[in-house]
Amino acid sequence: MTEDARVLREGFVPKDVIHRDHEVNALSRVLDPLARGEPTEPALVSGPSGVGKTTITKFVVSHLREEVLDVVTVHLNCWQAYSRFKATYEVLRELGESVDIRRQSTPHDELLNRLNTYEGPPVIVVLDEADQLEDARLIYDLYRLPRFAMILVTNDEEQLLSGLDDRVRSRLHTAETVHFDSYHTRELVDILAARIDHGLVHDAVSDEKLHRMADAAGGDARVGLSILRSAARQADQESVERLSDDHVEAAIPEGRNEVRTKNLNTLRSQQRDLYEILVDAGELAPKELYDCYCERVEDPRTKRTMRSWLQKLAHYDLVAASGEGPSRTYAATAEYADSDSNP
Ligand SMILES: Nc1ncnc2c1ncn2[C@@H]1O[C@H](COP(=O)(O)OP(=O)(O)O)[C@@H](O)[C@H]1O
Ligand SMILES: [Mg+2]
Repeated sequence: MTEDARVLREGFVPKDVIHRDHEVNALSRVLDPLARGEPTEPALVSGPSGVGKTTITKFVVSHLREEVLDVVTVHLNCWQAYSRFKATYEVLRELGESVDIRRQSTPHDELLNRLNTYEGPPVIVVLDEADQLEDARLIYDLYRLPRFAMILVTNDEEQLLSGLDDRVRSRLHTAETVHFDSYHTRELVDILAARIDHGLVHDAVSDEKLHRMADAAGGDARVGLSILRSAARQADQESVERLSDDHVEAAIPEGRNEVRTKNLNTLRSQQRDLYEILVDAGELAPKELYDCYCERVEDPRTKRTMRSWLQKLAHYDLVAASGEGPSRTYAATAEYADSDSNP
């Protein structure tokens, strides 16, 4: 049934992005001055997981590169490059500036110096998952440098700003914010339909099944694509050319769990510890959780950092918070079972 598995994959950047004209235009406008060789204000891109933030940002930036030849882009995933050193190092590496820097021995000042003295073409730095930066001074470092345009991508703008010191925060308050909402089911239908057209044989998916998958994705295109991939895989294994109801119903929990597993795998070690404490202990209040965490790890971070991680885990559906104020508790979410998708 599958003709081109590539277009169903997660990292695939479609030539045409659907239903995000407003966001594409808003982000392009912020970067407009670059085309005239002028400095730009930073841009903030916010919204829940799976709503196209990374894809649309890459799309806009690559279009700009087609227009303005002389611009370099660096797309950094701060969930991986979370320390100031590592993030700065990665930016320089992408710029081809760090060949002779030895990872462990170079003091951060030396790296910063390289950024300061950078003389190549203007750079667009995308700090994706920027709320995962442990030390937000990188944002300030880049902000000061006129050759660097900056796009900050985050789930929650307020959370990102509250973690920054006043100096950076006051500047970012004037940044242009482009907010991405969850998709409507009909928008997800169109996004999935475009992939089906390109990737599967003709007539592989009926309208009704397409709608069912889009609806089950809950506004999240990553989940929608994962469900579609999983259904197509099952049909391929049986060598049939059309999706059946059984394929779709089985694919719904499987597709969601696939996204869940991927998210779990992106957690760094201490975030994983936090998650596992909740899996073992069930529901915990923040104080108990912090105590368990401090007992478990060697160099615990602050309570504030733990709280920001919990928010991140909640954005990725790995943790659920309930109650407000003093009665607030956290618990790990469970894998999706068949019955979850068939209420
Ligand atoms: N408007 C869109 N058109 C086509 N594909 C999309 C669109 N929005 C999201 N996708 C697809 O959905 C998946 C998740 O999108 P992504 O940009 O990674 O979301 P986010 O960064 O907000 O978590 C990707 O595979 C992407 O290709
Ligand atoms: Mg993303």
